[in-house]
Amino acid sequence: MEKTAEALYRDRKQFFNDRAGEWLELCYRDPQSGRFDLHAAAFDRLFSLVPLRPGERVLDAGCGSGVLVPMILERIGPEGILCELDFAERMIEENRRLHREPNIRFLVADVARAPLEPESFDTVFCFSCFPHFDRKPEVIGALARALRPGGTLVISHFNSAEEINRHHESFPAVSHDHLPGPEAMKGMVAAAGLRVDAFIDEDGFYCLLARK
Ligand SMILES: C[S@@+](CC[C@H](N)C(=O)[O-])C[C@H]1O[C@@H](n2cnc3c(N)ncnc32)[C@H](O)[C@@H]1O
Repeated sequence: MEKTAEALYRDRKQFFNDRAGEWLELCYRDPQSGRFDLHAAAFDRLFSLVPLRPGERVLDAGCGSGVLVPMILERIGPEGILCELDFAERMIEENRRLHREPNIRFLVADVARAPLEPESFDTVFCFSCFPHFDRKPEVIGALARALRPGGTLVISHFNSAEEINRHHESFPAVSHDHLPGPEAMKGMVAAAGLRVDAFIDEDGFYCLLARK
């Protein structure tokens, strides 16, 4: 029998809560060197496309246990504000345990319904999480409202769309989670009043940058 949307949502949340403690180890640790720099070159590329400045306000939606935190804080400095948002409580617990800087705000919320102040962020990241969001046009609309005019939405993965969709198929709890094709993505972004500045979809790197 087909699962309901509510059951799929619950299973997905459970899937991420269950992996919160080992997420960084699973995804970012180089098994050879033991260092957490498996994707260092791709992160350099991502941040070269998204040049954050000191004092900026950044939202990290679907943040997990906070792989982006050190890289964002290094760029926005102590005057900037970083909001770490995730619907999985244990991801936020782990993130909070690992990152103690006073300019981080932690928020357990669904990305589509989060209490985000309008026009309050310079940059919004959806890093390695967009396929998991239900009601994608609604999510992009909510994130666009939270951006200040001129602010940037970043949707990125270190896989192509095809790779990420194939990858999810092997995990039942997220096998329905799909990254839409380029025209659908660009259409959703345009419908939310954003202009696409860059769209890259190649082996090992996906990045859509859109400006308000
Ligand atoms: C693949 S993990 C990536 C986490 C982190 N961005 C990283 O790269 O390590 C996807 C994250 O999105 C979160 N997520 C999925 N659906 C969500 C939703 N509707 N609202 C908020 N967070 C969500 C999950 O809990 C999970 O932490």
